[in-house]
Amino acid sequence: MTALSSFETDAAIVVEHVARRATPVDGETVARLRSEFPRLHRLFSSLYGGRPDGLDALLRLVDTTLDARAERTPELRRLDRERAGRSNWFQSERMLGGVCYVDRFAGDLAGVREMIPYFQELGLTYLHLMPLFATPEGDDDGGYAVSDYRTVDPALGTMSDLRSLAEELRAAGISLVLDFIFNHTSNEHAWAQRALAGDPSYEDFYLIFPDREMPDAYEKTTREIFPEDHPGSFVALPDGRWIWATFYRFQWDLNYANPDVFTAMAGEMLFLANQGVEILRMDAVAFIWKRLGTACESLPEAHLLLQAFNAVLRVAAPAVLFKSEAIVHPDEVLDYISPEECQLSYNPLQMALTWEALATRDARLLQLALDERHALPPDTAWVNYVRSHDDIGWTFADEDAARLGIAGGAHRRFLNDFYIGRFDGSFSRGYPFQENPRTGDARIAGTTASLAGVGAGDDGGEDRVVLAHALAMSTGGIPLLYLGDEVAQLNDDTFQHDPARSADSRWAHRPPRPEHRYAQRSDATTTAGRVFARLRRLIDVRSATAEFAGNALLPFHTPDAAVVGFLRPNSRGDGGAVLVLANVGDDPVGVSAQTLAGLGDVAVDLLEDRERRLEGGLELPAHGFVWLRVRPR
Ligand code: GLC
Ligand code: GLC
Repeated sequence: MTALSSFETDAAIVVEHVARRATPVDGETVARLRSEFPRLHRLFSSLYGGRPDGLDALLRLVDTTLDARAERTPELRRLDRERAGRSNWFQSERMLGGVCYVDRFAGDLAGVREMIPYFQELGLTYLHLMPLFATPEGDDDGGYAVSDYRTVDPALGTMSDLRSLAEELRAAGISLVLDFIFNHTSNEHAWAQRALAGDPSYEDFYLIFPDREMPDAYEKTTREIFPEDHPGSFVALPDGRWIWATFYRFQWDLNYANPDVFTAMAGEMLFLANQGVEILRMDAVAFIWKRLGTACESLPEAHLLLQAFNAVLRVAAPAVLFKSEAIVHPDEVLDYISPEECQLSYNPLQMALTWEALATRDARLLQLALDERHALPPDTAWVNYVRSHDDIGWTFADEDAARLGIAGGAHRRFLNDFYIGRFDGSFSRGYPFQENPRTGDARIAGTTASLAGVGAGDDGGEDRVVLAHALAMSTGGIPLLYLGDEVAQLNDDTFQHDPARSADSRWAHRPPRPEHRYAQRSDATTTAGRVFARLRRLIDVRSATAEFAGNALLPFHTPDAAVVGFLRPNSRGDGGAVLVLANVGDDPVGVSAQTLAGLGDVAVDLLEDRERRLEGGLELPAHGFVWLRVRPR
């Protein structure tokens, strides 16, 4: 066993090790390794410097990385080179994401393939397929309990189907996005089975304790994520030992303090990259490192691990991007976003505050987030969504709320009540998710249309659906549609009668593909038809509006609390910009000439494709919004 030592010493050993490999390494790969190795060595030293086998682990990682590079196809290598010259390709105004479950939306991978023409009709450039790997029967957390990262669920197809699909999507201008579920495996993964059988090297892949002493100690400071499934962060094994399980009892957290876990997962990651995946959605990033006495969320080591995965990827599959899934305090969300860590991130704050504004008819908290929490480092981007396959949690900062005189805890309770429909006069028909009677915490579930009040007798529902998407499409970043929402799909209440799903209300907002609604999508007398046409218009205009590329955003305030406003400057720097104004309230709002003074006399209304004179001010109808190209004087 050899521990890590100085950079010079270890680098010399690695050079020799690489020279002795059975298959020679090409010059391009050697150059990449040379440029990433200093970073990798530094990260490995911080993470594993104290271990007697740190260098052995690093050498195995180098081998895993070079093996994967050797297997990368010429086509993907071409993509690597092409993307290297356009590191901000994902910031284009033409980017549009879609997300769906393979089985629910299309039956299987062959079905997804048949839908490529529809994806093109819609304008997608990014398709996130929900996890499609082998999982335990029944206990699968919608695919997030992975038993084998290299096997596609046989009901959906094969790995070779996935590879061909990735290629066909790419030919259609669509990047395939898959999850990298690396915080945990299912209890049926081969590693988990070996750990259960008592194989010490695999026991060390997980966090297993003989009795309650350590679990009790950790649980003093950890948060309960799925309290309806089990209290705390641990579950009992059949032999009486306790294993770390942040999410469901059958999802066991990996032990990243063991470098073999890192190397093994890096191998799985590169395998996925080599199937043609272009963006990896990094699942549950906040939870990957644990330390006693902390919340075991967003610890510094979690960032070091992600940076190390990033470095490995830069050597073997540099075209691939990471998208962070950190549904945590907004300060912490930001910490994951950088070219060296995750280039992309969900924007849970904007998502949650869009719903918050619709419920309160007050856009001030959303405005504050756009003013102060929207900026990102260069060459990174938000993924802006209205809702996902998950619940909605109210992850705004209590400090921000306090500045507006809002008490965070009470406000979250109000928002939960409102969206569950427990609040008098609510337009929403959501479900509670993971209500915790001990803490009073809960999140909510529901499709966009059901949460927005479509079909609830309030004709604001359709407008709210469109308004929420108009915000996601204009603030900057990649807008991500939950497929089916573009035809205003409603909740699927049948999950309550399915024993495998009734305990997880997120199934309410994961309905099967709503065939009848898609059939109505060009019929303007239907909700589906109207919403589809309006969203299509937004997509077309967005993709033709260069100001919507990138992330630059300047606040634009009006005196009305129901109006959120911002400018998206053009890249010429001549003061020209697109002004976005949106009214979250139920009544029309006038924006005065005085408020608009300085923006020029005439604006181009991009959505209506006409000129508008600004000297008389303008009126925003209830839930109305404008995208105006202005030319400040
Ligand atoms: C992520 C997924 C969620 C899943 C959890 C555990 O948060 O989005 O659906 O339940 O991770 O993998
Ligand atoms: C928690 C986690 C998040 C996950 C969600 C699933 O909010 O922080 O990662 O997506 O639970 O419900």
